[in-house]
Amino acid sequence: MVTIHLVSADGTTTTVESKPGFSLMEAAIHDNAKGIEADCGGLLTCATCHVMVREPFASQLPPPDDDELGMLDFTASPRQPNSRLSCQIKLTDEISGITVDLPATQH
Ligand code: FES
Repeated sequence: MVTIHLVSADGTTTTVESKPGFSLMEAAIHDNAKGIEADCGGLLTCATCHVMVREPFASQLPPPDDDELGMLDFTASPRQPNSRLSCQIKLTDEISGITVDLPATQH
């Protein structure tokens, strides 16, 4: 199982577990975790699955492709250097323990 820690803007941490192969967004939605909306269901057209990935995990992820980079311009909360769209983060055993900060708002 892959462990994911979601840290909300108020500092509350929610931990979810998922099998490898799902996206971080899918794992959060499946567990009804608050803070990731994912209006488009992972089609890369909404930017409401915005997260900021903490190190060392941010450096371990494949870099965002051009489509993700383009959508990151449309996040409701200001984009940060470590901003990613969680529907594009594929869960693997290697990144178990990944910790992401959630933006104050997705809309
Ligand atoms: Fe819409 Fe990620 S769920 S861009």
